[in-house]
Amino acid sequence: KKYEYLLVDIKGKNSNVALVQLNRPKALNALCDGLMRELSTVLETIDKDDKIGCIVLTGSTRAFAAGADIREMQNNTLAQVVGAGFLDQWSAVAKIKKPIIAAVNGFALGGGCELSMMCDIIYAGEEAEFGQPEIILGTIPGAGGTQRLPRYVGKSKAMEMVLTGNRIKAKEAHQIGLVSAVYPANQLIDEAVKTAEKIASHSRIVVQLAKEAVNTAFETTLAEGNRFEKRIFHTTFGLADRKEGMTAFVEKRKPNFTGQ
Ligand code: HXC
Repeated sequence: KKYEYLLVDIKGKNSNVALVQLNRPKALNALCDGLMRELSTVLETIDKDDKIGCIVLTGSTRAFAAGADIREMQNNTLAQVVGAGFLDQWSAVAKIKKPIIAAVNGFALGGGCELSMMCDIIYAGEEAEFGQPEIILGTIPGAGGTQRLPRYVGKSKAMEMVLTGNRIKAKEAHQIGLVSAVYPANQLIDEAVKTAEKIASHSRIVVQLAKEAVNTAFETTLAEGNRFEKRIFHTTFGLADRKEGMTAFVEKRKPNFTGQ
């Protein structure tokens, strides 16, 4: 299927990884309304596709995404943005059940940085740059920059980025825990697909439960989170895949997961 702002491809030896590429090169992948609508539709469709076990989201070499589309929102009024729930639909990305790996080359700024943080793992190319420059435009981050960024990097660094609008390079983003690995730009997508294939080789249903359990750590107290984890852990004992995984270990063979 052809999209206006996206390229979608199937990757991996077992064709179980979806590669979604933001493709609005003239505007450095600025996240206009049309692009975000396509992206949420595509991700929701992939989420329901039994053949796909993991998603890689990437942009171009120059930009993952340079933010929300500034031209599009330049003349918006308070009444319009409140009335229309401006950018509410962005949260669809954070509700996807399959893991999403953001493979970030070039700029990930404003909404672009926030989009990468809605994913589950962030890999960066050596030339990647992350930032929340909204303050320079007279506004603040509106898609998780003030909430997810401090959870990734702590208060001091998040404050520094949000209040100055300064960008950080891939190496620093790695040091502070925003990204989990840095690769040469031309190897980034291959490395992300490799990790995605590994994830996709596990039980689909258990991967979904594991993602939900980790995400719960950011929504609740330690005691409640541990209680939730224990119940989810117990729940895996109701699955054929849990029996298969442990039986395969004991029988010294590879597991054959069915997602049941
Ligand atoms: C609309 C954008 C854009 C954006 C770049 N472009 N970013 N258009 N919205 N966010 C367009 C430019 O207007 C230009 O179009 C083309 O892309 C190339 O950009 P240049 O600026 O010429 O490139 P360069 O000099 O290399 O600078 C790259 C850059 C700069 C540093 C990334 O473009 C930049 O600062 N962009 C804005 C970054 C930003 O402030 N993002 C936060 C947005 S607010 P033309 O037609 O002139 O060639 C935000 C709020 C989120 O994200 C709220 C919740 C979602």
